[in-house]
Amino acid sequence: MKQRIELATNAIKKARKSLNKQFYPHYHLAPYAGWLNDPNGLIYHDGLYHAFYQHHPFSSLWGPMHWGHATSEDMIHWQHQPIALAPGDEYDKDGCFSGSAVSHEGKLYLFYTGHIWLNGANDDSAIHQTQCVAISDDGIHFEKKGVVIPSPEGFMHFRDPKVWFQDGKWWMVVGARDALDQGQILLFSTTDLLNWNDEYQTLAKTEDKNVYMWECPDFFPLGNHFITLFSPQGKKSQDYQFRNLYQNGYLVGQWAPDQPYEITHQFSELDFGQDFYAPQTFLAKDGRRIAMAWMDMWESHMPSQEHGWSGCFTLPRELVLNDQGKIIANPIEELKTLRQDEKIIPSTILIKNTDILINENATCCELELVWDLQNSSAEKFGFWIGNGIQFYIDNQNQKLTLSRHYPKYIISDSRSTELPKTKQLKIRAFIDKSSLEVFINDGEQTFSCRIYPQDSDYTLKLFAINQSAKLDNGTFWNLERAIS
Ligand code: FRU
Repeated sequence: MKQRIELATNAIKKARKSLNKQFYPHYHLAPYAGWLNDPNGLIYHDGLYHAFYQHHPFSSLWGPMHWGHATSEDMIHWQHQPIALAPGDEYDKDGCFSGSAVSHEGKLYLFYTGHIWLNGANDDSAIHQTQCVAISDDGIHFEKKGVVIPSPEGFMHFRDPKVWFQDGKWWMVVGARDALDQGQILLFSTTDLLNWNDEYQTLAKTEDKNVYMWECPDFFPLGNHFITLFSPQGKKSQDYQFRNLYQNGYLVGQWAPDQPYEITHQFSELDFGQDFYAPQTFLAKDGRRIAMAWMDMWESHMPSQEHGWSGCFTLPRELVLNDQGKIIANPIEELKTLRQDEKIIPSTILIKNTDILINENATCCELELVWDLQNSSAEKFGFWIGNGIQFYIDNQNQKLTLSRHYPKYIISDSRSTELPKTKQLKIRAFIDKSSLEVFINDGEQTFSCRIYPQDSDYTLKLFAINQSAKLDNGTFWNLERAIS
């Protein structure tokens, strides 16, 4: 593997030189060069946060999957590390697919899916997938140990292991598609990390017959419940819901080892934006449950591909479960350390078609707004970023909407959720060159998407269309660069 890693590392070094950084983020993890998709192996190990990711170092298009690697002391400032895994062994000939990490007796273990095309590259109808492990003493260089779980009878699509320790055992959930094309999660266990029991339990399975695969499962305690987080494929859109190519969301339930998983709350989406997929969670050093996702969607237009790179993570978000069994997701506190140039936006009433300029070049910033919903009668009000993004309260339809319009890049779409029935609406938005993340009412709803302002138009304005909208208060900050 050493040689293959060197080859990949050199390719990245070379590609970095000609990278166009027009859309490159300042405080979100993105590859140095080449392609990135799912977060993998997120973990706090030996005094550092490690983030691995699905990576193609040789091009900005998806290809034979490697594991890229970065480390951080605070989950915000990331340092790239040498590539951790390169495919090419008999059992991972065509890719080291997604997986997770555990820290045990000072060593870092990576569990991943060994992928093989049986009928030529990209033919998903004939593949072989197994769960494999690689181990490191220094957290940087990994030695592959081969397959730990072969694919069970009847499961060709069998991938994305997530491993954790509980009640004296190691457990692994794996995403799977059965012979009837039904998505599900299989659960395995072991006492020693290397010798896994081939017998499995079906932890949860789709009730929606259209859903043929559950990718990237995660299973973890939150509050007094166990959350099953996964990325279902095949779900049909319903009105304004589930409009992305693939979805992401969670079930809430109760679970104890060797007991069935009792679902108490059915499927809910974790994020309502256009670009949010394959999130993975991990524990911060102080025990907070943190999630990061791939902030893109399969088969979408990615204008930065022409610039030599593609794909980035969302901000790390702290997850908690509220009393209604809903996940609340907020950006981690540490992000406040990036704030600078604070600008207070005083209480204002926007009348008729007025707008207020907040910043002429809002490329890397945070915006907080508190709208008075009870005293706002405008048809639409919210913020614009250039001509391409509108995030607004749609008063007539009682929805919150994020719409994008970048004809030059063939991107034009909108996503909506129900407008919360609160007196005030609190919006916290993060812009970082080619991304926008919006947190509503302290994390009750989130929207994540990539943005590609045409002609570098990052003018940030508040607007109200017809009648009036009342802003109670607001604040704007530029955010310091955390990643170079
Ligand atoms: C999810 C996914 C995983 C797979 C990986 C391949 O985005 O399709 O199921 O392991 O990407 O890159």
